[in-house]
Amino acid sequence: MHLLYAFLVLLSVSDGFYPTCPGRCSCDSVQSVQCYRLTEVPSGIPSTTKKLYISHSKIQHLQLSNFTQMLALEDFILLASGTESVENDTFKSLSTLKTLELWKNKLRRVPSALPTSLEVLKLNDNLIYVLHRSDFEGLKKLKTLELKNNLLSSLSPGMLSFLASLQSLMLDGNNIESVAGPLALPQLKFMSMENNKLHLIPASFFTSLQSLQFLSFSGNFLTRIPINLPKSLLSLKMERNQLKVVRFRDMKHLENLSHLYLSENSLTSIDGAQLLANLTTLELSQNQLQMLPLRLPVRLQKLDISNNLIQRVTVQDFQDLRDLKHLFLDNNTVSLFEAGALQKCSQLSNLALEQNLLLSIPLRLPRTLARLDLKGNAIRDIAERELKDLKQLQVLNLRNNKISALDLKALEGLPRLRLLYLDGNPWNCTCSLLRAREVLKAKGTDVRGGQCAAPAERQGESWMSSKKIMRQCEHHLRLTEKSKETKKKTKPEEHSSMRANIDDDYYDYEID
Ligand SMILES: *[C@@H]1O[C@H](CO)[C@@H](O)[C@H](O)[C@H]1NC(C)=O
Ligand SMILES: *[C@@H]1O[C@H](CO)[C@@H](O)[C@H](O)[C@H]1NC(C)=O
Ligand SMILES: *[C@@H]1O[C@H](CO)[C@@H](O)[C@H](O)[C@H]1NC(C)=O
Ligand SMILES: *[C@@H]1O[C@H](CO)[C@@H](O)[C@H](O)[C@H]1NC(C)=O
Ligand SMILES: *[C@@H]1O[C@H](CO)[C@@H](O)[C@H](O)[C@H]1NC(C)=O
Ligand SMILES: *[C@@H]1O[C@H](CO)[C@@H](O)[C@H](O)[C@H]1NC(C)=O
Repeated sequence: MHLLYAFLVLLSVSDGFYPTCPGRCSCDSVQSVQCYRLTEVPSGIPSTTKKLYISHSKIQHLQLSNFTQMLALEDFILLASGTESVENDTFKSLSTLKTLELWKNKLRRVPSALPTSLEVLKLNDNLIYVLHRSDFEGLKKLKTLELKNNLLSSLSPGMLSFLASLQSLMLDGNNIESVAGPLALPQLKFMSMENNKLHLIPASFFTSLQSLQFLSFSGNFLTRIPINLPKSLLSLKMERNQLKVVRFRDMKHLENLSHLYLSENSLTSIDGAQLLANLTTLELSQNQLQMLPLRLPVRLQKLDISNNLIQRVTVQDFQDLRDLKHLFLDNNTVSLFEAGALQKCSQLSNLALEQNLLLSIPLRLPRTLARLDLKGNAIRDIAERELKDLKQLQVLNLRNNKISALDLKALEGLPRLRLLYLDGNPWNCTCSLLRAREVLKAKGTDVRGGQCAAPAERQGESWMSSKKIMRQCEHHLRLTEKSKETKKKTKPEEHSSMRANIDDDYYDYEID
């Protein structure tokens, strides 16, 4: 950082590497100029400049005369410079301009008479409150239009009718209360109107959006999923709205829809999602679902139903989901989890069951599990039969349960276990618990052990590292060490396969 600053100072003192580079600017080449802390667009920008980048400046007003020399300009970026107005026709004669970005300024309207060569226009974080049809006149090549975080309150088809090539339209973070259709944007693929004030999307809105693939209305006040969504849709986001029901019948023409995001709504039940045959991701977190959805799409790979009110998980719920890889059921009220409920999910690698009411580890979980999170339940013990098939398990989280003792056999049956969270349990620090510690250390498992709750004289000691308990159990551990020694001699191959596993890539559980 200091070096960079010194470099910039040096550049501004020496007027850059190129003899014609204006003060406070650096010219990487005769074609690219970057300037900081200016009070006006400098004169003397080389006329060969293709890219001009200005940021953190104070340039209240842009005028036509500022650009008359810049005959080759393709990209103009003016960032965080307090710009309030642009003189009429300022950019009109820049016939090679492709990208115009005027981010984080104080513009109240779209600059007038933009050149027809324009492909990218980004006006995010300004104070633009209305769009006029004439703002985009002739912009037949425009592909990207971004107006995030402005003050727009409505959107009507006329405003955008010139934009025949538009592929991406971003209108997040405005005050849009109403939209009208049909929006005639035949090439549009991405549209986002997150965090606006929409209550209703008229059915006609989508009739001329035949290429739309990614659509987001997250963060509005919608009470239903819009009808007439384009068939081309691949991803639909409706998070943080006021949905109470989802009528999948109205969506069954969306044959390629693969991602559907419905988190943070007021859904109380889901039925009929199997009509979306190609759905692979379904997110339903933070609703009021009391039951798992009936009839889920069979291609589902990720299902997130965390933060709901689910009480039971049964064999019937998951019998068709053979492709499921990630299942999030954390923060529900699951107290009943039928044995083998997920047995048909023969690809499942990630199961989140933390913050529920389980009294024991569910039986017959899929052998493919790599991560199992059971933090914050009411589990009292770990039995061998619960874990014995989980040969792929790498991360096991049992933090904040009611476990006081460890079954050594249960842990020995987990050859790939790399990370084990056991803290927040009321450990009874007997010498046999210390033996478990030695076994885990030998396997190379990284263990968060936590503290002893009993016996009284060991309370508060950390059982994975306490020298005191170690000393007290010395005799006990030496005995088991010997028996291990003989085992090693008789079964050398077991030992070497254990070592090989230690070289697996370290997986940091805390990442997500
Ligand atoms: C650029 O515009 C400013 C007003 O923002 C003006 O004072 C300055 O003279 C102009 N520079 C050139 C080179 O036209
Ligand atoms: C700038 O253009 C707008 C719209 O085209 C027009 O209403 C306004 O009068 C123009 N301003 C000047 C100073 O010419
Ligand atoms: C769905 O995807 C397939 C394969 O990519 C494609 O051929 C088909 O046209 C798509 N259907 C629609 C309605 O876009
Ligand atoms: C979606 O499913 C239909 C059949 O249900 C299939 O014809 C189509 O190719 C699928 N599209 C994709 C992208 O998988
Ligand atoms: C659990 O879910 C409730 C309701 O959705 C939510 O308010 C709460 O923050 C969640 N708690 C955690 C720990 O995620
Ligand atoms: C701890 O384990 C010992 C030996 O098994 C047992 O006698 C004792 O009652 C246990 N203490 C608690 C608090 O569970």
